[in-house]
Amino acid sequence: MTKRLLIVNSGGDCPGMNAVIRAIVKRAHQENNWEVIGSINGFDGILSEPLDIEILTDKRVSGIHFLGGTILQTNNKRNPFSYPVLQKNGKTENQDLSDKLILNLKILGVTSIIHIGGNESHKISFELQKKGIDIVGIPKTINNDLSITDYAFGFQTAAQIATYAVDKLVTTASSHNRVIIMEVMGRDAGWIALHAAIAGGADVCLIPEIPFSIEKVIRKLRSRYKNEKGFANIVVAEGACPIGENCSVLEGTLALKISKELKRHGLEADIRETILGHLQRGGVPIAFDRIIATELGVHAFELVLENKFGVMVAHQQQRVIPVPFVEVIDKYHDVDLNGNLVKTARGVGISFGD
Ligand code: F6P
Repeated sequence: MTKRLLIVNSGGDCPGMNAVIRAIVKRAHQENNWEVIGSINGFDGILSEPLDIEILTDKRVSGIHFLGGTILQTNNKRNPFSYPVLQKNGKTENQDLSDKLILNLKILGVTSIIHIGGNESHKISFELQKKGIDIVGIPKTINNDLSITDYAFGFQTAAQIATYAVDKLVTTASSHNRVIIMEVMGRDAGWIALHAAIAGGADVCLIPEIPFSIEKVIRKLRSRYKNEKGFANIVVAEGACPIGENCSVLEGTLALKISKELKRHGLEADIRETILGHLQRGGVPIAFDRIIATELGVHAFELVLENKFGVMVAHQQQRVIPVPFVEVIDKYHDVDLNGNLVKTARGVGISFGD
């Protein structure tokens, strides 16, 4: 009897998502009794009327490993346990549609799910598992904020894109004796900023884990100038926050805020701001992420074959192992303030403004 596997990807898109989908489908089709279908736009596909699903053939996934985005589309706003439903009065109300989801899985003859996602997605997987769904998770993140796994796919590409951007901004800052502030993603974890600052040779790196003082930032910036000649590059994560302030993240606003503060505190240098935004999430995944994505995809399907559900595939010490969702959720991978990378950054003179 043919078995049906459903792939759902949810959360923000991430370089490597297509490589995972391809890996799952290719591995599944090595068994002769598996069909793989994909839910379009996260859980929308399996909850919409009519259902919006796609049969994933080898032909459909052929050659997609280097494509950015996801052929299945995704979103970060649709939790089946709190799903926005349009009411008669024109307003939307969040409702628990998990029973409807389970019914639709039955109607489709789906026997198991592989769910690709970040922190929030694994919480959903855990809840679905509790309701009896056979589900395996695959970690993805551009922010590197998932604990338990040494690697998820997506982050290395984002850090590479951010580094290329710092490289370009260093040359223009130096040509004009300017300070350039580049804002990158990272609401709660400053990994992209930290990697790009070290790899790109920035002078200041501001991350959510280390509250900063604008005076200390200015001190560092001034040290980079002599007789008005000099330049400096700042990499700031969107979730960074000055000491003593209670910040809320408004994407794309922090670089401008810091720029204004530097001017208000009398910094003499000419200042410019760059917000990298979704450039970090789009486009071709680097080889590292394609490999991790492929590895996790193949292993996730093999767990399905072994009937090992309720787990996320994790990369630990060069091995790929299943970890129960209960051990995955509610754990966050912050930048370790006493860790090697922060020490390394300080060792080459990068200021965290602390
Ligand atoms: O979680 C990934 C992430 O890229 C964050 O770093 C960022 O703050 C957020 O998603 C942006 O979300 P959206 O694509 O909805 O603007």
